[in-house]
Amino acid sequence: MARILGLGGYVPERVMTNDDWSKLVDTTDEWITTRTGIKRRRFAAEDESTLDLAAAAAERALADAGLTPADVGEIIVATDTPELYTPDTAALLQDRLGCGNVPTYDLGGSGCAGFVQALDVARARILLSPKKVIVVGVELISRLMSWTDRSTCVLFGDGAGAVVMGPEGGMAEVVDVVAGTDGSKASILTARTGGTRHPFTADTVATGEHQHLDMEGKEVFREAVVHMTAAAFDVLERTGRLIEDVSLVIPHQANKRIIDAVRQRLGVDESVVYVNVDEYGNTGSASVPLALWEARQKGRIGAGDLVVLTAFGAGFHWAAAAVQF
Ligand code: ACO
Repeated sequence: MARILGLGGYVPERVMTNDDWSKLVDTTDEWITTRTGIKRRRFAAEDESTLDLAAAAAERALADAGLTPADVGEIIVATDTPELYTPDTAALLQDRLGCGNVPTYDLGGSGCAGFVQALDVARARILLSPKKVIVVGVELISRLMSWTDRSTCVLFGDGAGAVVMGPEGGMAEVVDVVAGTDGSKASILTARTGGTRHPFTADTVATGEHQHLDMEGKEVFREAVVHMTAAAFDVLERTGRLIEDVSLVIPHQANKRIIDAVRQRLGVDESVVYVNVDEYGNTGSASVPLALWEARQKGRIGAGDLVVLTAFGAGFHWAAAAVQF
């Protein structure tokens, strides 16, 4: 079995409200609230980096599991905003936590679906070779996005979430995971500049392209609703469970309107869907593990609960997991 032994989350202290954004770009609290449901988000301090956020969440997850770094057998970090291009954030996290020379790797560039994909990889690794695996979803998106493009900047926040998984014990079983990708839609949501195709140059810095997300918002919205809903139904079907059996759905926290549309298509009550996008905005691959951690902290998840995680992001990638507490 692949089980969840501990959960952790971390958000930076700095709060940025919609009114704060309205002083920097041509926007209003009313526009952001109506279109997205976001009221505020957290941004990392200047001296904080991806590794700091990841380590804070991972340390909390280890403590929650009652384990020490010496117990860890593998580390996977899902992020689009790594500490460095190379080596990966997971290697740096291994050293920061003091886990010894266990294998580590990043699952990079999967956007907001990265954490649930990583959960699937961890599950497969544990079924193959029983060990304890830390899975982190972390994003410091405030350093990737444009601070002048109002159509994207108001959507995002920084944060990290982590789970410790293992073959036995703990609080929940990851019963099954489904995942899919449609690479033909890659250009709909992308950070075009910075790779080998369009490297950073003096020109890209001068035009601001070095820090810019290209996004067709309406298309992302449509695809997110379709795939997050279908993935949730798929994973339930594979596990022989019905939507009526689900105690809590934890969707990727992109936008309250996307969450509401998914909820309606799933046919569940508002009380069955966890929402914290109002507090943190879209924290990319951190959003699902952060919400999972917070939901349990707030007593929204108890023993016997079936929880469905469903996520969608750049790629396009999507993934959903059935987790039995
Ligand atoms: N403040 C004020 N006005 C704005 C802002 C802003 N921050 N951003 C855009 N506008 C304007 C636009 O310029 C446009 O003005 P115009 O009519 O004069 O041209 C108007 O608002 C309407 O813009 P639309 O793009 O049509 O607004 P829409 O209703 O589609 O909402 C939004 C935009 C919120 C981005 C929506 O499309 C959306 O949520 N898409 C999903 C995007 C997403 O979640 N991306 C995150 C990454 S992927 C993921 O996590 C799933």
